[in-house]
Amino acid sequence: MKSRGRYQDSRLRSGAQGRGQINKPFREQVRTTIETRRLILRPFESGDAEAAFARFGDAIVMRFTPTGPDTSIEQTKARLAKYEEHQTAHGFSRWIILDRQLARPIGDSGLLALQEYGRIDLGFRLAQSYWGKGLATEAASAWVPVAFDDFHIDRLTAFVHPGNVASIRVLEKLRFHTEGRETIMGMNSILFSLGAQDVSPVEVRLTSPMI
Ligand SMILES: CC(C)(COP(=O)(O)OP(=O)(O)OC[C@H]1O[C@@H](n2cnc3c(N)ncnc32)[C@H](O)[C@@H]1OP(=O)(O)O)[C@@H](O)C(=O)NCCC(=O)NCCS
Repeated sequence: MKSRGRYQDSRLRSGAQGRGQINKPFREQVRTTIETRRLILRPFESGDAEAAFARFGDAIVMRFTPTGPDTSIEQTKARLAKYEEHQTAHGFSRWIILDRQLARPIGDSGLLALQEYGRIDLGFRLAQSYWGKGLATEAASAWVPVAFDDFHIDRLTAFVHPGNVASIRVLEKLRFHTEGRETIMGMNSILFSLGAQDVSPVEVRLTSPMI
């Protein structure tokens, strides 16, 4: 008999019904960086606010974000404080993305627990000058094994405005599948998901970030 993957096993043991549950306390492993070929990801720190405002305040970058762009650096600081709070509570959050070679901040990516929806949401965002180089796919795909392997999350979701073609393509490359249309945080959205059982352990190992 073909054996089940370890992610599927953990999902079955937990009795989870695909609502984005975390099946293990995060304190067993505390990860503070994710490294990929071209990128370093780490939790936001308060000193990141000014550089982050350049992206969170950019109306084009934030066009498909329900909140719209930040209009002051105070708004970005409040956003980063929420990310830090989330990091303390869950061990993961939206993290800053740094260009590995220059150590320059270029975006953010990570997981947020959307309590209201019972989902763990994968997000990604880059400064415009870094679009079109495969970097969002590189950052977001590094989170998949971290979510399933480190945090034993059984299902990731992502919601995207139907006009956000680049983002939809990133999720398709990560093998997320469409669940349907929904209004999420007031935004007309396509809901995507990826279950731990949809990804084989071998695949996860091959795409695992360097640690
Ligand atoms: C979405 C975003 C993160 C993509 O970043 P990126 O680094 O350019 O993404 P990648 O290069 O990894 O992949 C983008 C894919 O979309 C494709 N794409 C981009 N624009 C496209 C368009 N207008 N039509 C069709 N395909 C398009 C690219 O060709 C690429 O696919 P490919 O590798 O098959 O050629 C970036 O555009 C961004 O930061 N947007 C603003 C923030 C945002 O919307 N975040 C997502 C919220 S859900």
